[in-house]
Amino acid sequence: MNSLSLFAFLCAISAHSIAVSANSAAYPSIPGADADDECSLRGGGGDALVPPRREVYDDGRIFDISHRYVPEMPVWESTEGLGEDFLWLAISMKNGSRANSSKFTLGAHTGTHVDAPGHFYDNYYDAGFDVDSLDLTVLNGLALVIDAPRDKNITAEVMKSLNIPKGVRRVLFRTLNTDRRLMFKKEFDTSYVGFKEDGAKWLVQNTDIKLVGIDYLSAAAYDHSVQSHLAFLESREIILVEGLKLDDVPAGAYSLSCLPLRLVHSEASPIRCILTR
Ligand SMILES: *[C@@H]1O[C@H](CO)[C@@H](O)[C@H](O)[C@H]1NC(C)=O
Ligand SMILES: *[C@@H]1O[C@H](CO)[C@@H](O)[C@H](O)[C@H]1NC(C)=O
Ligand SMILES: *[C@@H]1O[C@H](CO)[C@@H](O)[C@H](O)[C@H]1NC(C)=O
Repeated sequence: MNSLSLFAFLCAISAHSIAVSANSAAYPSIPGADADDECSLRGGGGDALVPPRREVYDDGRIFDISHRYVPEMPVWESTEGLGEDFLWLAISMKNGSRANSSKFTLGAHTGTHVDAPGHFYDNYYDAGFDVDSLDLTVLNGLALVIDAPRDKNITAEVMKSLNIPKGVRRVLFRTLNTDRRLMFKKEFDTSYVGFKEDGAKWLVQNTDIKLVGIDYLSAAAYDHSVQSHLAFLESREIILVEGLKLDDVPAGAYSLSCLPLRLVHSEASPIRCILTR
């Protein structure tokens, strides 16, 4: 048996478990997502070249909680979304080059991204508190996915009611934004749920949370955009991860892994985050 037919054989054996995970509706509704099928790329299921696009691996052992960069992705205060032009093939095989090579242009706060202290403090920006200075031990470790009340922004009262135990350092807040599928709508929506100033201050003063994750483009409610960011970022100890994809992820405890790009002098970066059990 050569390696390709061995691969096809293993694919056939695992076809049952693949079918189960593909149909388990762990991710019923993510545009562009399809089967948890590691065989399709190598032609295990036939001749078609179909790349795998996964949200969840191993029946829920790993959840990908970063959003895909697609033209319909919403962009802060824009009705147009990211648009078709953000990614282009600068060097193309169709034009006689030896390889395809793309370029892209993105705001640093596009999609699932992280904020550094320099985002709302000019003195921190000048001093170099960029995304390259963020602490990987905060961005990686035990995290809770929790459901915030759906009828309110995150106020001090809401924070109090969530009863997040002391010692919890990372919390991903799932809100009405996920139910409303706001990250899948190209028009920016100011009515998203985020932290009000008193909620941000309460978190800073009364919890051990150092990583705050949220499911739309800002951790701060639109009308408290400045105040809540100031409250979170002042100590330079809290990291905000925004635009997370928390659809269909069971609430609970996970190991979180988040890795930003090392963009020196940038107060934000796209970030890839996964949850592992
Ligand atoms: C990119 O490369 C592939 C081969 O890997 C080629 O088939 C395709 O035509 C290229 N695309 C363009 C737009 O040149
Ligand atoms: C390929 O060549 C065509 C014709 O010159 C041009 O219109 C097109 O922009 C080129 N595309 C790329 C990706 O270079
Ligand atoms: C949250 O606050 C925004 C204003 O920033 C408001 O438009 C929205 O209705 C509020 N959402 C809820 C659920 O109260």
